[in-house]
Amino acid sequence: MDIVDVVSQRVPLQRSGNSYKANCPFHQEKTPSFHVFPDRQSWRCFGACATGGDVLSFVMRAEGLEFGDALRQMAQQAGVTLPQRGQNPQNQVAHKINEDTRAYFQRTLASAQGSSTREYLEQRGLDKQAIEAFGIGLSPSDGESLKNHLVREGYSQEELASAGVVRAGDDNVNHDLFRGRLMFPIRDAHGNLVGFGARSLDGSEPKYLNSPQGALFDKSRLLYGMDRARTDVRKEGAVIVEGYMDAIAAHQAGFKNVVAQMGTALTEFQVDEIRRLTGKMTMALDQDAAGQAATLRSLDVVLDNFRTKTVSNQGSSSTAEADPRIIVMPPGQDPDEVIHRSPSDWTKLVESAIPAVTFRINAITSQGDTTSPEGKAKCVAEAAPFIHLLGSGIQQANAVELLANNLDVPIDTVKAALSRPSVARRARRPEQQRPAASTASPFARLDHDPMEEHCLQLLLGFPDLREAADGLRSEFFQRHENKEVFTRWLDAGPGMGKDETLAAVRRNGDDAVTGQLDLLSEKPLIALDATKRVASFLEVVSRLEERNLRSLKSEEVIRFAESPPDIEDGEHDDILRLNQQFKKNEGLRRGQAQEISG
Ligand code: UTP
Ligand code: MN
Repeated sequence: MDIVDVVSQRVPLQRSGNSYKANCPFHQEKTPSFHVFPDRQSWRCFGACATGGDVLSFVMRAEGLEFGDALRQMAQQAGVTLPQRGQNPQNQVAHKINEDTRAYFQRTLASAQGSSTREYLEQRGLDKQAIEAFGIGLSPSDGESLKNHLVREGYSQEELASAGVVRAGDDNVNHDLFRGRLMFPIRDAHGNLVGFGARSLDGSEPKYLNSPQGALFDKSRLLYGMDRARTDVRKEGAVIVEGYMDAIAAHQAGFKNVVAQMGTALTEFQVDEIRRLTGKMTMALDQDAAGQAATLRSLDVVLDNFRTKTVSNQGSSSTAEADPRIIVMPPGQDPDEVIHRSPSDWTKLVESAIPAVTFRINAITSQGDTTSPEGKAKCVAEAAPFIHLLGSGIQQANAVELLANNLDVPIDTVKAALSRPSVARRARRPEQQRPAASTASPFARLDHDPMEEHCLQLLLGFPDLREAADGLRSEFFQRHENKEVFTRWLDAGPGMGKDETLAAVRRNGDDAVTGQLDLLSEKPLIALDATKRVASFLEVVSRLEERNLRSLKSEEVIRFAESPPDIEDGEHDDILRLNQQFKKNEGLRRGQAQEISG
């Protein structure tokens, strides 16, 4: 259910660059400071109320509904977006529109219009079979001909718009979304054509334009090429590359167990999908990405997923070892180039992949200062949350040993440092620019957020953490059921025992909340003593806060990247206020770190 649709039923939205704006429905104002971001499926008031959230929190506020009621109301309206979405008629039409669109783009590529693009593909080393197999095409550059074609085929404007192949311009008339771009059809794991990736051919930005994010095309649930790779993934394990071009090159060369990420950090859903097929997964990272926070975040998802869920491989080997690995690509090269140059080099690279745990530790020590005692302490602090999360004794012991080796200190010293309560709290990751992967669907029940869950597990398990939870706010939770669990926990107030609190949170038993509580109580929690518990909790709170700030920041960035920029006078104050909030929070965090280390 698209947030723009939901909000515009209640508030008259005006398009403004990449977002929509309106006078805020939640406070009185004369210039609009309420924005809706379709890409992120979020809304925010940059004005007096300075709040925001996702589609569900909007409905809750606008209708004054409780979580459970809002969820029910939306489920009713949305029937369409719920689990069996492959079957619902609206999606079937969209899939059909996409298939017609794909065929049209393929014909365009084959026509006179496509000659230079065909040359380009040849230059990039793609052969006819691969181009055909992946359905690669070209979108006409005039901005109208696809729409006209599809209208002649009998589709309505609404159908075309909801399939995401056209978009209303400033003139309120639909135009082709993709123009003059190389088109990659994107299928879900069942082969349904859910959208397109569109590469610019003239250097214009963005390099890739993808179908609009929504229930139909949900990047957080797609792995490019999975429909073709499934069988081989089951047999040989999965190899994950970053780009569409990399995946196609791999398949062309006969490496058919390769899928591509969708330009975002891996999500729990994607990792789940792979893990159901195989315990063996290898991620190819380009050198630049290898140290980036988005990559490390993917890794945390992978490691946590592989740690907490047993691998059941119904395929060839029933006891496949959970074995996530990393290939760091040679500088300046991507799989696409390596594969075209020498398939056997690629095979060697895949075979030389290192365990993800090793990579994770090495990433920390190679970026940090490993010479001074303070630098070493910092590395340990940064590795601490991750090492605490490692499940098995052996894995943890190996990680500690590697860390000690890299830092050139005795293992016992590292162990001692790891158990100091201040260490986990001090651990900080560098800020990064990429926005967090959005959790678009409010009904994405299969999706998890390990960090939020860990936080709630601690809160529910240990009433004495209530004091330490001062800085934790409901907007730090992105998943509704977690947010709701937290709000109810807050409402329950202090002075109650563990079981009483749980009962209060469970109260009227909304399915979403009950289900989440069951899940939280089933998930194993690493036994920590009271001081470590507080440290681990504070760490997770601070990570949730950082994530929230990053997400606010990226909304702000989208908001001000609008062309033409149309910031109204009154809004300057709001912007200043938001930026001050960031500064203040950053200062607080830094202050906190100093206070502990000093
Ligand atoms: P790359 O820039 O590595 O693209 O981005 P590529 O597929 O290798 O393409 P070539 O080789 O330059 O032609 C990796 C992936 O990140 C996503 C796409 O999924 C892309 O395949 N991406 C990248 C976007 O979604 N948007 C962008 O603007 C850039
Ligand atoms: Mn590339």
